[in-house]
Amino acid sequence: MGAVSSMTVESINHLPSDKEFYLFQQLILDKLGIFLPLQKKALLSNRLWKRLRECDLNSYQDYYRLIVDKKGEAELHVALELVTTNETYFFREQKHFDYMEQSIFPMFRNGSKLRVWSAAASTGEEPYSIAMMLADKCQSNWELECSDVNNTVIEQARRGVYPESRIRNIPQHYLHRFCRKGIGPQDGFVRVTQDLRDRVNFFTLNLHYDFPDIGKFDLVFLRNVLIYFENDTKEKVLERIAKVLNPNGVLFVGHSESLHGVTQRFAPIKPAIYRLVN
Ligand SMILES: C[S@@+](CC[C@H](N)C(=O)[O-])C[C@H]1O[C@@H](n2cnc3c(N)ncnc32)[C@H](O)[C@@H]1O
Repeated sequence: MGAVSSMTVESINHLPSDKEFYLFQQLILDKLGIFLPLQKKALLSNRLWKRLRECDLNSYQDYYRLIVDKKGEAELHVALELVTTNETYFFREQKHFDYMEQSIFPMFRNGSKLRVWSAAASTGEEPYSIAMMLADKCQSNWELECSDVNNTVIEQARRGVYPESRIRNIPQHYLHRFCRKGIGPQDGFVRVTQDLRDRVNFFTLNLHYDFPDIGKFDLVFLRNVLIYFENDTKEKVLERIAKVLNPNGVLFVGHSESLHGVTQRFAPIKPAIYRLVN
């Protein structure tokens, strides 16, 4: 499952009714914290219509009944994964990487270990970008946790295989050091080296529910996911994040996201970079 760039004619012709849409809207809000406004009807049908047909169903209401039934739990997971948007790329928002290098790494040169969490990691481009920098600048003095609610993208991240078309943002010296070109059936793909993959711990975690014990972090990347939440959900998610940050811990959000008017637990340092208010 990747980002959906164009609506298929097939799904556009099969939009849910308002009543059907609201059933899914509430379910998605309850399970993921994601709020889909009514204008996203076409997106919902684009994500779900094909699957609904694969289940031999013709109506959204029937599909809804299937996934809320106890016996439909596996299908519910499929549906929820289909509605997440997983667009991502290597070294997205370069200014965050510059800030890490210039302002954060120098503070950790004295031997203390840097703990980092990529909390909406999608298919792995974000955590591997972070991992490349950490391996380059912090020797082995770091730990990187990487999670997403969508298990399918986490599995892709764990494999660490990417089409060559997706690696253009990776600096040349990192490509040489941390990526291997595929041959034979893997021609056209690169794989992140085993050494680097082994340094990253992957797991599924839903930001909308209380976190399991994952320890404390110095840096959390929570980029391009708050955008899908309404303010009350954002506030709760940010409170959970605040609790797992070390004093003076730093939070990175997406450049189109702001915590202004949402919480006072974080103070802005730079655009889309915040420090925990202790
Ligand atoms: C647009 S991607 C952002 C990926 C990466 N952080 C970046 O900025 O490139 C958003 C990710 O948030 C995940 N997500 C959505 N709702 C979530 C939730 N409730 N808990 C955890 N992850 C969630 C999606 O599965 C998706 O992979």
